[in-house]
Amino acid sequence: MTSKALEFRADSIGYRDAVIIRDVAVSLEAGEIAAVFGLNGSGKSTLLRGIAGIADAKNGKLSIDGVEQRVRTPEVLASSGLRMILQGGRVFRGLSVAEHLRLAVGSGREPPALLRGLLDVIAPVMRREAGVLSGGERQMVSVVCALLAEPRILLADEPTLALADDVVNDVLGVIRAVSRATGMAVLLAEQHVKSAVGVATRALLLRAGRITLDEILSTDAERAEVLTILNQPETQMNVPDVQTSAACQVATE
Ligand SMILES: Nc1ncnc2c1ncn2[C@@H]1O[C@H](COP(=O)(O)OP(=O)(O)O)[C@@H](O)[C@H]1O
Ligand SMILES: [Mg+2]
Repeated sequence: MTSKALEFRADSIGYRDAVIIRDVAVSLEAGEIAAVFGLNGSGKSTLLRGIAGIADAKNGKLSIDGVEQRVRTPEVLASSGLRMILQGGRVFRGLSVAEHLRLAVGSGREPPALLRGLLDVIAPVMRREAGVLSGGERQMVSVVCALLAEPRILLADEPTLALADDVVNDVLGVIRAVSRATGMAVLLAEQHVKSAVGVATRALLLRAGRITLDEILSTDAERAEVLTILNQPETQMNVPDVQTSAACQVATE
């Protein structure tokens, strides 16, 4: 039996004494993209942070490619092939975009061809310091840097937040293409529900502190069914399309 790319279990994840999610079990095959949905504050970021060792996981147990990761610091996990795109596109403010890319890809290596389209998008700001970039540009830099590292596991916390409408599907499309080409497994927290359901192979829903749905998405019918569930009043995701969610972002930036 081949081992899972990622296997994570925890009694709970939270911050010190505050329990945010209980009975957590997430497993991903190589090449799988599991989209995590849930209202604001439902714990999507907390789930990803718990796996990455930056939120407190009680009795947390993580295996990558069947190897248990007893030490779960970000550096150790990175060396095991795990990368996280933090919500909001974290960058080193004083480094230029070109310097970010050199750090991510290492010297003397060519970026994978699949990333050329995204690199073209950030080409105009290559010499600028990351601290002066717009939210969308910063977000794009952090997505590109994570993918340049060629991770086995990508934890992507709203990688399309603050991106222009036409770039949202490009970014998700590249994540899917990289996943298919390299077997990278992805856990993707997303607000662009329709776009995310379109690229995901699994859907998870966080509600009232638990994972209440974990469905395979392989057919159009399965995708339509999950969109219906996410649109129900109690989940209130309202399946935003790209236009409406972009309008919200402009209002909150
Ligand atoms: N560092 C923290 N300390 C305490 N509580 C936190 C912290 N970060 C987030 N929370 C709480 O955890 C809950 C889930 O937040 P989060 O995981 O960011 O949700 P989502 O990503 O789904 O919007 C919220 O109630 C939030 O207030
Ligand atoms: Mg979040």
